[in-house]
Amino acid sequence: MTPDFVKTAPIQTLLDRASGMNAEGGDDRLKAIVRDLIEAVMVAIVKHDISESEFWQAVTFLQQGAGEFGLIVPGAGIEHFLDLYMDAKDSEVGLSGGTPRTIEGPLYVEGAPLVEGEANLSDDADDTDTLHMSGFVTGPDGEPVQNAVVHVWHANSQGWYSHFDPTREQTPFNNRRRIRLGADGRYAFHSKMPNGYSVPPGGATDRLMKAIGRHGNRPAHVHFFVEAPGYRTLTTQINFGDDPFAADDFAFGTREGLLPVPDRRDKSAFIAFDFQLQRAASKEDENFSTRARAKA
Ligand code: DHB
Ligand code: FE
Repeated sequence: MTPDFVKTAPIQTLLDRASGMNAEGGDDRLKAIVRDLIEAVMVAIVKHDISESEFWQAVTFLQQGAGEFGLIVPGAGIEHFLDLYMDAKDSEVGLSGGTPRTIEGPLYVEGAPLVEGEANLSDDADDTDTLHMSGFVTGPDGEPVQNAVVHVWHANSQGWYSHFDPTREQTPFNNRRRIRLGADGRYAFHSKMPNGYSVPPGGATDRLMKAIGRHGNRPAHVHFFVEAPGYRTLTTQINFGDDPFAADDFAFGTREGLLPVPDRRDKSAFIAFDFQLQRAASKEDENFSTRARAKA
């Protein structure tokens, strides 16, 4: 059987009915999207001759993995795909330049302490080196950005993020801050060095990665949102260029221009990194995406 089976009249009628195409109410855009998604599943079933047992195995996997969808999406390359799609749409309208965007990931927490000046991110003891990171936030013409806030979050030396740490050993905002910048646009912070991250062992993401012969590791990295009135909010991260997984990130979050190599000296490591923002074309451009985020 070929996927042409899905194009036959009875199946197309089923698709119309299943997606509410001929129903009165509901959202037309959503109907069209739902129809295409159901059809894509049907095409995959026929193309790979998926059996009833295999299909229900997949449903069970999704049910059990629901709590890890935020991890499966980057692992499947879809969060990175969204970045590539936004980049491509930008370039179509002649928008380019500035620090590259890259995935937010699932581990941001709203409401981290808002601090000023040289910030310490780490509240908890952690027997590891100290990271010192600093630089400037500028606009497209190199002008210092006014009233910027840098949101920064990263894992501890065990690769766990506060709030999501299964060992429950971290305080809620360990390695998380919002830093309000002065008129010169300079930021600086120090913290306990993060280590590479691995997906929770035995979880849905781990099982999926193993089943397709992949791993669930990310290089050590530091996440940022950079926001300022009049500028586009930037979602990005730096990954340590000397990490063994720098060129093999399971979440596809590493990008050219975002792989600084820490200058490691004794018990300290230094990273100098500047952020360049794009000007906001609209008020909406300044906003964060409306993605649901954890609150502590
Ligand atoms: C995942 C974890 C991260 O720390 C990150 O930045 C991106 C993705 C994940 O578990 O999928
Ligand atoms: Fe992360």
